[in-house]
Amino acid sequence: MLGDFSYCNPTKLYFGEHALEQLPAELQKYGDHIVLVYGGGSIKKNGIYDDVMKVLKKSEKTVTEISGVMPNPTVAKLKEGVQIARDAKADFILAVGGGSVIDYAKALSVSINYDGDPWEKYYLRFEEPDCETLPVGAVLTMVGTGSEMNAGAVITNPDQKLKIGHVFKDEKIMPRFAIMNPRYTMTLPHYQMVSGIYDIFNHICEQYFSGEDDNTSDYIAEGLMRSVIHSSRLANKDPQNYEARSNIMWTATWALNTLIEKGKSTDWMVHMLGQAVGAVTNATHGMTLSAVSMPYYRYILPYGLKKFVRFAETVWDVNPEGKSDTEIAEAGLAAMEQWMKELGLVMNITDLGANESMIPDLVKGTIILKGGYKVLDEKEIAEIFKESL
Ligand code: NZQ
Ligand code: ZN
Repeated sequence: MLGDFSYCNPTKLYFGEHALEQLPAELQKYGDHIVLVYGGGSIKKNGIYDDVMKVLKKSEKTVTEISGVMPNPTVAKLKEGVQIARDAKADFILAVGGGSVIDYAKALSVSINYDGDPWEKYYLRFEEPDCETLPVGAVLTMVGTGSEMNAGAVITNPDQKLKIGHVFKDEKIMPRFAIMNPRYTMTLPHYQMVSGIYDIFNHICEQYFSGEDDNTSDYIAEGLMRSVIHSSRLANKDPQNYEARSNIMWTATWALNTLIEKGKSTDWMVHMLGQAVGAVTNATHGMTLSAVSMPYYRYILPYGLKKFVRFAETVWDVNPEGKSDTEIAEAGLAAMEQWMKELGLVMNITDLGANESMIPDLVKGTIILKGGYKVLDEKEIAEIFKESL
């Protein structure tokens, strides 16, 4: 394990079909004024809203709602929520939804007591909060982002064509608890389910494809990847398979809760490319990642050859006999591509509404990070987007 690091993740997880029964005891720890944050209405259709409201009423909480948090939540919606939460004198934010709703709740948490513009402070200047923040709790209904157990909050500014994630340093921004009932995810449309599955897989790749040392994080990552591949194939055929859906939910959390990044420089360039696509197309997060992944990984393969060989053999069971290292690595990526197509993922950005004329904006919107096997320049980024069309 390279480098010095600390590890602390205070989110308490309640997992399983009876997880919501733990909500009253958790709510007791916080004040009476609760802001309930949710999305565009799926929780009203599938009954989760009613179940949560029953608990809130029984706990005698005063509830103010912020509804309509959209996928890829916007800065305008954030500012609207800040006003509502201030007027409600909120003590606690309960997010019921997927990554968008939970991210939004965290962004709200750091903005309620900040007088300036939260977009500029947290997303353009990447500052940490110096005001009081509010505790957040989560009831998870969509699996993929890991937002239920991390301090990340992604916000989109459509006017500036920017979608930016801030991973806050202070672990008190992580949800205090997360209720994780796999049954809640059974009403997800197939498109969202597989998009979330690819998001999980890519989170693991982003951390795995960096570094050359012998690192425990890589072994954990390989186990998680094999579990995602196995369970995703079962869930793709039978979305009601509880065992598969529960494994997918659990791997999502461990893929991005700060564990497997330890001792790693981490890459995250697929996310940077994908977020640029999301900012101009408003496409579903996981699909923006799948659409750029193969051109990106094929491009960086020669720079991280050793790791791509290990990935092929360990994760995809590629038989190395008679093959050169490059052939083994390419066979690994081919197996990954085959799996992605099997799930029905979007494999190019054209299908998400992007076109060649958007490439300059996409390049401008891509933040260049330096932790992976190749630090890209703008020309290379433009090439990768062209290959992704
Ligand atoms: O809005 P509603 O009506 O609830 O519908 C949602 C939404 O349309 C629907 N949905 C959620 N649970 C459902 C359901 N439909 C039926 N049944 C259910 N049980 O699913 C749609 C997508 O929800 P969303 O929350 O947008 O999905 P996801 O969890 O993928 O979150 C995406 C956001 O998270 C950010 C992304 O960039 C994006 O903005 N990310 C956050 C990260 C983090 N915090 O660490 C990391 C990720 O890489 C990602 O960037
Ligand atoms: Zn992601």
